[in-house]
Amino acid sequence: MSSGQLYDTIGTTYAATRRTEPRIAAQVWSALGDARTVLNVGAGTGSYEPPDREVTAVEPSAVMRAQRPAGAAPCVAATAEGLPFEDQSFDAAMAFATVHHWRDPLAGLREMQRVARRVVVFTHDDPDAGWLRSFWLCRDYLPEVACLLVGRPSMAAQAAAIGARVEPVPIPWDCADGFFEAYWRQPEAYLDEGVRRGVSVWARVGPQAEQRAVRSLRDDLASGRWAERNRDLLALEEADLGLRLLIA
Ligand SMILES: C[S@@+](CC[C@H](N)C(=O)[O-])C[C@H]1O[C@@H](n2cnc3c(N)ncnc32)[C@H](O)[C@@H]1O
Repeated sequence: MSSGQLYDTIGTTYAATRRTEPRIAAQVWSALGDARTVLNVGAGTGSYEPPDREVTAVEPSAVMRAQRPAGAAPCVAATAEGLPFEDQSFDAAMAFATVHHWRDPLAGLREMQRVARRVVVFTHDDPDAGWLRSFWLCRDYLPEVACLLVGRPSMAAQAAAIGARVEPVPIPWDCADGFFEAYWRQPEAYLDEGVRRGVSVWARVGPQAEQRAVRSLRDDLASGRWAERNRDLLALEEADLGLRLLIA
C-alpha cells in the first residue's frame, strides 16, 4: 500500500486530534526565514502552513485533502518523490511529520531542494539516538515501534542529502497537536481510542500490539506503577524526544 493510500484508510478522523501546536509552528515558521512563497509537502490538513505567506500544498491522499479547512491553501495531488513544479519555483519548501511515510525519503528531500531555495523538514532522529529508550511509551509498552523504523535513511543521510543543519524541537508538556509523542506527560491520553486513531503508528503496529500496550498502560496507571517509574517527567515543561528540524 502506498502512503497516500494508507492515509485514505486511516486518515478519516485526522483533523479531530491533529492541529497546530503554536510553539512548534513558531520554530518552523522562523526557519522559513523571509520566504514569501512556500510549498508544503505531505501537507495533510495544513496544520503548520504559515498564514502570512503564499502557500501551495502537496498531498497524495484524497481523504486528507478533503479535510483541509475552507480557505486553506490550494492543494495539488502529488507525492514528494515527483513534485510537479519547475526548478526553484518556491522560496521555501516545508514538510511536517511526513518524511517517514515517503517511499523514498532521500529522493523526496532532493525534490524539495530542486523546487525551492530553502528546505525545512520536521522529522525524528534515529532510533539509536536514545529517544526510543527514553520515551516510556516505546520503552515500556510498545517496543514494536523500533521495527517500524528499520530501513529508514539515517538522520545524517537525510541531512547530507540536502546539506541541512539539524535543530532539536522540544515538545511542550501540553502540546496541542496529538502526534505520537505529544502526550509524554499526559499518559491517560493514550487510552483514548480517538487519540490513537489520529496517529499512524498505532495502525502500523497492528491491533494485537495496540491492545496489549493500552491494557498494560491502563493497569500501570491504575496501580501507580507508571507514576512511580516516570515521576521525573512531571516536573518538566518540555521534553526532547528526538524530534528535529532539518534546515537547508
Ligand atoms: C502524519 S500526516 C502529516 C500531515 C501534515 N503535514 C501535518 O502536520 O498534520 C502524513 C502525511 O504525509 C502524506 N504522505 C504520505 N506519503 C507521501 C509522499 N510520498 N509524498 C507526500 N506526502 C505523503 C500522507 O498522505 C499524510 O497526509
